[in-house]
Amino acid sequence: MNKLLNFDDPALLDALATRVDAASALLHEIANDFSPAAFASSLGAEDMVLTDLIVREVPEIEIFSLDTGRLPVETYDLIAQVRKHYGLALHLYYPRHDLVEAYTYANGINAFYESVELRKGCCMVRKVEPLQRALTDRKAWITGLRAQQAPTREGLSIRSVDTANGGLTKFNPLVDWSEREVWAYLKLNEVPYNALHDRFYPSIGCAPCTRPITPGEDIRAGRWWWENPESRECGLHVKRTQLPERQS
Ligand code: ADX
Ligand code: SF4
Repeated sequence: MNKLLNFDDPALLDALATRVDAASALLHEIANDFSPAAFASSLGAEDMVLTDLIVREVPEIEIFSLDTGRLPVETYDLIAQVRKHYGLALHLYYPRHDLVEAYTYANGINAFYESVELRKGCCMVRKVEPLQRALTDRKAWITGLRAQQAPTREGLSIRSVDTANGGLTKFNPLVDWSEREVWAYLKLNEVPYNALHDRFYPSIGCAPCTRPITPGEDIRAGRWWWENPESRECGLHVKRTQLPERQS
């Protein structure tokens, strides 16, 4: 779908230049005033914009990904491509094996399809708990969230205090960017991106929980598509319930 967009539009290029300047200034401020800070990358389109900006301008900001163990092969291919293209080793955080073993033993390997509760339990073990470790001792974290991505994200701000993660500061530098601006940045700067985006996957998470969308569908319609739209968040960006205790 992004191949059909016209990136020669002068108004688009002007708007993009302003957006890039603002995002760069914010990233420098984070590097200077909120060290140590880290950027959480899912390798999605927005996150590739931020990866490109961080590598060029503020490489001291660490970039990490949560490898749930259930990511699409195209996402693993992009992790390898990023390593070659930028010489960048993403810090990959993995779920605790004891929690994954307990979850799959109790509930089954694909239990997330059975109920919202079991789906959120899987996201808790595979994403939220590793995120907590990734954010330990950080002053700030950065995400690729945009307000236009979903009704659940409309009120998003560019910076906030993340009470769910111990009160560190959370930055969303692309909060006001449009999807078109994201794609213009990627194309103009020849940034590598996930091959699934060209196969009607605008939003990409774990393989079993992501499907392509059809024309006219919401950009997050392919995420946890069997659930109601209001429950379709994984827990990385909402106030969370308690984590399971570590087993001895
Ligand atoms: S989410 O529901 O999975 O959180 P989305 O895929 O739209 O939604 O991602 C939003 C932001 O959350 C990304 O820009 C990124 O900052 C962070 N994020 C999501 N998944 C991961 C992941 N696997 N690893 C690191 N960060 C992630
Ligand atoms: Fe589990 Fe699906 Fe959540 Fe991935 S997105 S952690 S597979 S429920």
